[in-house]
Amino acid sequence: MTTTRRHQLAATALALAAMALPFAAHTQTAPKLKVGLMLPYTGTFAALGNAIENGFRLQIAEAGGKVAGREVEFFKVDDESDPSKATDNVNKLVKRDAVDVLVGTVHSGVAMAMAKVAKDSGTLLIVPNAGADAVTGAMCAPNIFRSSFSNWQPGYAMGEVMAKKGHKKVVTITWKYAAGDESVKGFKEAFEKGGGAVVKELSLPFPNVEFQALLTEIAATKPDAVYTFFAGGGAVKFVKDYAGAGLKKSIPLYGAGFITDGTLEAQGDAADGLFTTLHYADSLGTARDNAFRLAYVKAYKLQPDVYAVQGYDAAQMLAIGLNAVKGDVSKKAEIAAALQKAKIDSPRGAFSLSKAHNPVQDIYLRQVVGKENKLVGVASKSLADPARGCKM
Ligand code: PHB
Repeated sequence: MTTTRRHQLAATALALAAMALPFAAHTQTAPKLKVGLMLPYTGTFAALGNAIENGFRLQIAEAGGKVAGREVEFFKVDDESDPSKATDNVNKLVKRDAVDVLVGTVHSGVAMAMAKVAKDSGTLLIVPNAGADAVTGAMCAPNIFRSSFSNWQPGYAMGEVMAKKGHKKVVTITWKYAAGDESVKGFKEAFEKGGGAVVKELSLPFPNVEFQALLTEIAATKPDAVYTFFAGGGAVKFVKDYAGAGLKKSIPLYGAGFITDGTLEAQGDAADGLFTTLHYADSLGTARDNAFRLAYVKAYKLQPDVYAVQGYDAAQMLAIGLNAVKGDVSKKAEIAAALQKAKIDSPRGAFSLSKAHNPVQDIYLRQVVGKENKLVGVASKSLADPARGCKM
């Protein structure tokens, strides 16, 4: 054989091998699943974003590092809890990175921008915290799911609790944005139904923490009790300022459980004794929760909180949806059908999803004892968000 002929044959063999390669690679290993994490990694909700990511990664690690047989590749954006940057930020993940699934976020205003982009582009979205009622209400969609709660849920449960305790006149205080407004609205709905009255609704812009003037107003109004929604860094400061102003002894403070979740180390004695309502507590004592807490502490040298649970469950939901379609994210209707009939084995207790894709779940009454949100009892059993405005 001539040298030229040998070169020709070698070239043909190489070309054939190159043609066969992508096919061989495809049949042996599925392409990586691109997961877009859009969370706050800076600002007042930074710790919440980190806990969600930790929980999400823990579940995937427990499942052998894969979802429905596909390895996971993460794309991350710090949304800074800034709604004005939210559409650009989510488009970095959807358009630039072409992720298969979006996971985010904490802030309700940012989450609504994510839901809009998810709805328009058809990208699968799992919300691991933000309670914006509209996400599983007016904006509900077959490809949008939530592993957390609606803002209405813990608020409504606390309205029932405080009415039963016999409080009549309550002042509310929160940040002026969707989550604060909706938490207060849910509270008010149940509290008024139970015979109570909200005599004053106080608020300040997100994420401000200049509480003094508002605390002075609470002292002057002398209500029976106060209902509040704050979270993260703002919750730490509010609880300390409330005690510091001398109000804790005279006017009992209640809240949606975010006020004392992931915050107790920083709040110290100021949080002692507070009653809150949430879909998680630190001392559930179930085998499922104990195993989760042990694994989380081992992995991160940190105590888990409600945000870690919601991140963990977002990954469980992703696995349930994708296992049903063997990892094919394009099969949206089948993913939705699988999640619709699933019982999600959460550390909080098993839950199912409503038709609007929000957890139907027990809301616990908890009390701060030492550094724990101790379980007092179930405030509201299998509470379902009313999903107002959802047509699906
Ligand atoms: C929200 O903006 O929906 C939100 C933020 C922090 C929380 C809970 C809800 O802890």
